[in-house]
Amino acid sequence: MKKLIVFTGAGISAESGIKTFRDKDGLWEQYRIEDVATPEAWERNPAYVQEFYNFRRKQLLEVKPNAAHLALVELEKKYDVQIITQNIDDLHERAGSQKVLHLHGELLKSRSSIHKDHIYPIQGWELKMGEVCELGSQLRPHIVWFGELVPEMENAANITSHADVFICIGTSLNVYPAAGLISLTPDGIPKYLVDPGTIDQHHLKGIEHLHNKATEGVPELVALLMKDENI
Ligand code: OAD
Repeated sequence: MKKLIVFTGAGISAESGIKTFRDKDGLWEQYRIEDVATPEAWERNPAYVQEFYNFRRKQLLEVKPNAAHLALVELEKKYDVQIITQNIDDLHERAGSQKVLHLHGELLKSRSSIHKDHIYPIQGWELKMGEVCELGSQLRPHIVWFGELVPEMENAANITSHADVFICIGTSLNVYPAAGLISLTPDGIPKYLVDPGTIDQHHLKGIEHLHNKATEGVPELVALLMKDENI
């Protein structure tokens, strides 16, 4: 089976009802990154950081995967599909995708604040101050914050460098190192981007850009890839 890599960002979950970050009315217009998504914010005001992620977790439990998440599952009948997502939601998993790698962590998990390998599922929406890991330290959201290393990056880079087809969906390609993945794809393979926005031209070399919302563009692209006998 050919290896098909799908690299997703906030745009794929937008039509499920989850806000993107940098669009008009996006999350980073309401909150400052340095107040909620850095290790320094956690040091300064952990309760506020918890509240931010608790609120997002509550929202996540109320939404469902959309037609784009679901269409990607169909590809598994013909391709060896690996999703690499920047998203912290679980909508790819709930849609039924088998292989999902989360570059920026997972909202439904918590982690020890002193040992990176102690990771736990969160029951319900709320992670409280005072809840501790087995070593006795406060549990934090299992999120990769700005200024932190991206532990899955090497794995993602390795997978991407062996792609036969690469699809990018709903990402502004603003945040590194994740955005750098696109430049690690082998030369000459088919590459597609589904995003209704304007993406910096330097990212788009050799990429077919479908200017469409995910729930329309992804099912169309999936239908094309399922039919195409040359891929
Ligand atoms: P952004 O908010 O930067 O970009 C969202 C992208 O989705 C834009 O390119 C939009 O044009 C596109 N978009 C909006 N609606 C869409 C729709 N219905 N269908 C398809 N695309 C749509 O989000 P990301 O690129 O995912 O990291 O942001 C990357 C990282 O920055 C996130 O993982 C997060 C954030 O800060 C951390 O918090 C560590």
